[in-house]
Amino acid sequence: MRGLTHAITLVPGDGIGPEVTDAVVQILGAAKVDIRWERHDAGVVAVEQGRRPLPPELLESIRRNTVALKGPVTTPIGEGFTSVNVGLRKGLDLYANLRPVWNLPGVPSRFANVDLVIVRENTEDLYAGLEHQIVPGVVESLKIITEKASTRIGRFAFEHARRQGRKRVTAIHKANIMKMSDGLFLDSVRAVAREFPEITYDERIIDAACMQLVLTPERFDVLVLPNLYGDIVSDLGAGLVGGLGVVGAANFGTTCAVFEAVHGSAPDIAGKGIANPTALLLSAVLMLRHIDERAAADAVMHALGHVLNAGIRTRDLGGGATTREFADAVCKVL
Ligand code: NAI
Repeated sequence: MRGLTHAITLVPGDGIGPEVTDAVVQILGAAKVDIRWERHDAGVVAVEQGRRPLPPELLESIRRNTVALKGPVTTPIGEGFTSVNVGLRKGLDLYANLRPVWNLPGVPSRFANVDLVIVRENTEDLYAGLEHQIVPGVVESLKIITEKASTRIGRFAFEHARRQGRKRVTAIHKANIMKMSDGLFLDSVRAVAREFPEITYDERIIDAACMQLVLTPERFDVLVLPNLYGDIVSDLGAGLVGGLGVVGAANFGTTCAVFEAVHGSAPDIAGKGIANPTALLLSAVLMLRHIDERAAADAVMHALGHVLNAGIRTRDLGGGATTREFADAVCKVL
C-alpha cells in the first residue's frame, strides 16, 4: 500500500545543481517514494528572471511544506547579492547544520573507520555579516555568540547523539583566546551536557582538534561547533572520506528542514554532465529518514553501495561514469 504523497520544495540551484538534482529526483522516483515536488529557482537563475535572489515564494513554499531538497547556489564573492544559503538559514531559522561523515563502500579515501557527525551552529558567529569600515584601511567584523543559540545547538547535538545511540559529544572552541565569546559557547554547551549523563562530554581547542581529526578521526563521535569552525571542519571531514562529492548534509530549524549537499555549484564542471550526485543523494537519504520513509532510505543506500562497490564511479572518484550513467545504475539496482 502506498503512503501519503509528500509535498517537498525542490531548489535545483545553479552550476551543477540542476544536473545533480535531476539525478536525485530520478533515483527517488525509482525508489517509489511518492513525492510532489514544488520547483523554485533561487540565486543567479532567479536574478536573470528579474526576481529577487531569494524569492519570497520560495520561502513560503518551504514554510508550507516544511521540507526542501536544495542544490548548490552560487554566491558572488566580494560584491553582488548576499548569500542565498545564509538568507535561507536566517529566514527559516535553520539553526543546526548536520553532516554525517563516514566511509562509503567502494569510495577510495585516506582513512577507514571514519564515522562521525558534525553539528554546526548556523545562525550567528562571524556569519552574522556585521562588518563595517572604522576608518579607511580598518574593517571590523563582529563575532556574535549568544547563550540562546549556543544552548539550542548544544541540545540539538546531544539529542541527536541520544537518538542515534552515540556515546560522546565534543565541543570545539578557541576559548583560550576568545574567552568571552567562545567561553559563552562552552558554558552553554556544558550546561546542556549535564542533562545527558549517559553521553560523555569533552572539549577540544579548534587547532588541536583539526590535527587530531587527520591523525585519529576514529576517536571522534559527535562534534558541536560554532558557525565558522563548523564550516571549516565540515569540509575537513569531507576530505577524510573522499571529498565534497560524497558527503550529505541537512539544515534543521524548529519547524523546517532543508537538505543539501556540502559542495558548491562547481562552475569548473557545470554543464559537462560529470558531477557526482552522491552527496545530494546522501542528503536526500537524510530527508527520507526525516519524513519517515525509512524503507526507501535503506533501499537507496543499498543501491548506492552496490553501484559504488561495482566500481561505477564519477570522475571525481577516479571513474568514468557521467552523472546520468551513475543515476541510471542506481535506478537499475532499485
Ligand atoms: P565547489 O564545492 O563548488 O567546488 C570545489 C571543487 O570540488 C571543484 O573542483 C568542483 O569541481 C568539485 N566538486 C564539487 N562538487 C562536486 C560534485 N558533486 N562532483 C564532482 N566534483 C565536485 O566549491 P567552490 O568552487 O568554492 O564554490 C563554487 C560556488 O558554490 C561559490 O559561489 C560558492 O559560494 C557556492 N557554494 C554554495 C553552496 C551551497 O549552495 N550550499 C555551498 C558551497 C559553495
